[in-house]
Amino acid sequence: MSKKGVFIVIEGLDGSGKTTQATLLANNLSKTREVFCTAEPSRGKIGTFIRQGCLYEEKRLPTEAEALLFAADRIEHMKNELAPALSQGKIVICDRYIYSSLAYQGSAGLSLAWIKTINARALQPDFSIFIDVSPEQVLKRLQRKKSVMETLEIQQKVREIYLKFVEEGELILIDGDKQRDVVAEALFAKVLSLLKNINY
Ligand code: TYD
Repeated sequence: MSKKGVFIVIEGLDGSGKTTQATLLANNLSKTREVFCTAEPSRGKIGTFIRQGCLYEEKRLPTEAEALLFAADRIEHMKNELAPALSQGKIVICDRYIYSSLAYQGSAGLSLAWIKTINARALQPDFSIFIDVSPEQVLKRLQRKKSVMETLEIQQKVREIYLKFVEEGELILIDGDKQRDVVAEALFAKVLSLLKNINY
């Protein structure tokens, strides 16, 4: 694949506002550039199976099987949606990607090295951004039915793994505890400066 576009990933806890922030970022960038906004689990066959089949307690699969399904969805998503959009020169914004598998399946006890191995064929993003909100705050915000990923203890473990990657310089942190528009502005400014660095 010849990649001409830019691949940006937005990560965060459930209820951190990352989906809203990914949409606002797409709106801001689309004033001057062509943007494709997408999410994982994807809307493809495997992503649909994941959403319908394994995110709730009564339907839970073994953690290894879950990790493999997320990795398989990622490959399908990459081939069918991400790579074509990138080869057309678009800015691709993806709500969740490999760091979600590292943080969620890692917090469920799988080794980060194995999760990296099963995701080794997935395209690497140009930048991955973590919208950081405290686990207490996100649990207050979540009104809908909670998936198995959404207890306080799990959220704390998930956040710890995300923060480890921030410390190691792989994820860029944006403070998500501020008001929606303040977070959106900080995110947009950050992305513009990153795009400038790669001359896009
Ligand atoms: P989420 O972004 O919350 O989807 P939506 O808000 O549209 O329902 O993702 C659903 C859940 O999937 C979320 O709890 C995190 C989990 N997940 C993983 O555990 N591993 C992964 O690799 C991905 C992409 C998601």
